[in-house]
Amino acid sequence: MAEKVKKVTFRVYRSNGKGKGNYSEYTIDVERGMTVLDSIIWIKENVDPTISYRASCRMGICGSCAAIINNKPNLMCHTQVFDLNTDTVTVRPMHNYPVVKDLVPNLNRLFEKHSSVHPYLVRKDRKEQENPTGEYYQAPTDWLYYYQFNYCIKCGLCLAACPTVATDEEFIGPQALAQVFRYNEDSRDEGEDIRYGVIDHAHGVWRCHFAGACTEACPKGVDPALAIQLLKRRIVSKRLGFRKSRKGTQVLKPPKEAKRREGIPEAPKPTV
Ligand code: FES
Repeated sequence: MAEKVKKVTFRVYRSNGKGKGNYSEYTIDVERGMTVLDSIIWIKENVDPTISYRASCRMGICGSCAAIINNKPNLMCHTQVFDLNTDTVTVRPMHNYPVVKDLVPNLNRLFEKHSSVHPYLVRKDRKEQENPTGEYYQAPTDWLYYYQFNYCIKCGLCLAACPTVATDEEFIGPQALAQVFRYNEDSRDEGEDIRYGVIDHAHGVWRCHFAGACTEACPKGVDPALAIQLLKRRIVSKRLGFRKSRKGTQVLKPPKEAKRREGIPEAPKPTV
């Protein structure tokens, strides 16, 4: 019968954010079904309250608990201890980020690059933005172009795995580049040229050497390496004149004969 409980030694990286850290070891009973995050929480609650880590949802959605587990980038809440098939689990903070404390990285680099690429729908119809009259049309087939890249949870694992991020501080990185592709491919968007202005340079999209480590590390199957190669193709096609700037889809007017059913309250006024 498969064992239900086993002793596992956790080697947890400890650092106050200055200089080189070291590892503390904790041997605990792990039940089948416990994740690495469950184990770290158990250790903090029962053995050593001084450990610092970051987590929130415990279900692979918020992206807070990213770490290097037995030398592989992954989410702690997404990694079953029994699946690691080992009696020793080493947990350290992600590479390529400064450490705040123990397992907590400083993610400024990730969020600065992410926000630099205008990661939202850019529109030129200012009037409609200020006084919305309806929803923008988007067919299910339009959505297929970008939906895979929409799953990014901003955990930062792709940057932790990327050899180019490790050697070039200015490199914009796989997360932000994948988001450029995600928004550029959205049929409602009109910000392609603005984003190319941010990424079309030596530390932008062209700095990627296609190691593919970002895609391997991504726990949500986003595939940033694919997005980056497609971006390169789009930029070259544009420079050669094969690709034109797109006009975003327009507001879908409700059919004239449509009437509001009685008793349904009005939608609240938009706040932005
Ligand atoms: Fe939210 Fe792990 S705690 S992704």
